Amino acid sequence: MTLPITQSQISPDIIDLGAGEPNPSVFPLEMIRRAAEERFAQGDASFLQYGAEQGDGYFRLALAQFLTRGYGLPINPENIFVTAGISSALDLLCTVFTQAGDTIFVEETTYFVAPKIFADHRLNIVPIAMDENGLLIESLEENLKRFKPKFLYTIPIHHNPTGITLTETRRTRMIELSQQFDFLILADEVYQLLSYTDNPPKPFAAYTNIENIISLGSFSKILAPGLRLGWIQAHSQKIKRLVTSGLLDSGGGMNPFTSAIIRGVIESGDLEKHIHDLIEIYRSRLQKMDSLLRQHLPNITYTIPRGGYFFWLRFPEHINAIELRKQAQSFQVDFRQGTLFSSRGESQNYIRLCFAHYDEEHIEQGILRLKECLLNK
Ligand SMILES: Cc1ncc(COP(=O)(O)O)c(C=O)c1O
Repeated sequence: MTLPITQSQISPDIIDLGAGEPNPSVFPLEMIRRAAEERFAQGDASFLQYGAEQGDGYFRLALAQFLTRGYGLPINPENIFVTAGISSALDLLCTVFTQAGDTIFVEETTYFVAPKIFADHRLNIVPIAMDENGLLIESLEENLKRFKPKFLYTIPIHHNPTGITLTETRRTRMIELSQQFDFLILADEVYQLLSYTDNPPKPFAAYTNIENIISLGSFSKILAPGLRLGWIQAHSQKIKRLVTSGLLDSGGGMNPFTSAIIRGVIESGDLEKHIHDLIEIYRSRLQKMDSLLRQHLPNITYTIPRGGYFFWLRFPEHINAIELRKQAQSFQVDFRQGTLFSSRGESQNYIRLCFAHYDEEHIEQGILRLKECLLNK
């Protein structure tokens, strides 16, 4: 009998090109073991105590220095609040800054689990259209005439599922609108440090001097999701509000044990080396998937992603991705249908593929199976 350990289990016969989690083969077990041993050997048990509400101060300092280098901006540890990952950060932000029945904006399409968190808080979700340059400002302005949202949830870089990055001009305009109409921007910047071709735009984390801007970061895609460790970057007034929430008052800081260990991974320079290796691996997987798609799936269109994890493929209108996914089962290949990411059941002829999860051999096998499936439709 085997008991569950991981959230999803992919059968070894299936190549699931939809799987959006990193592969355990890239988790740096040895690196984390070393940091844990060093932390335990220090003989100071304070990291086993309830933690400081804002997060371990030494960890925040190390993280701020790491982000200063990674983002190329001065980051102050006072603007960092330690979380148990972006999912828990979103939940806490909803608890603190919204009430049931409030309206919030999401992108059409969006990271499919985020609306579930918003629905848990009984929020009214309004989708805002996107194009190849990210969220459409005209659509945002249009909706701001009709609704008074508490926040806009956006994935401004290497978007999940579309891979799109929001342009500088639109970022500036979005920030202006957030001030003019007094709503928060929750910028999910989980892929900010995973750019493979060029320098990414400045993150929203650069604007924590503005009270409306909140940036969300995570170790899930740059180290390991099982750590359940991430951070919020925000104005000190917003951090103060989070720190005084009931959850933090009762339980203390969100992840003192793990942050004390990961502090060592950052301070040793290991994290930067690891991200450098990941970028090499993922860039090459991206290129492999791109060339296989061109070679084997001529009827699709897509924008080549410049970072992150995903390809967003558009099929001809008559293809229904839900049906296709059912047929794909017999070819032992899987993906995610576009409608999963839509608040309106749209994108029925789109699918999301992840190039990060498998090595190049499996990517090739998976694309060949997908081709067979399409030929036998
Ligand atoms: C856009 C986006 N946000 C958040 C997450 C989850 O983040 P975390 O593991 O920090 O909760 C993911 C994971 O796929 C994601 O793609």
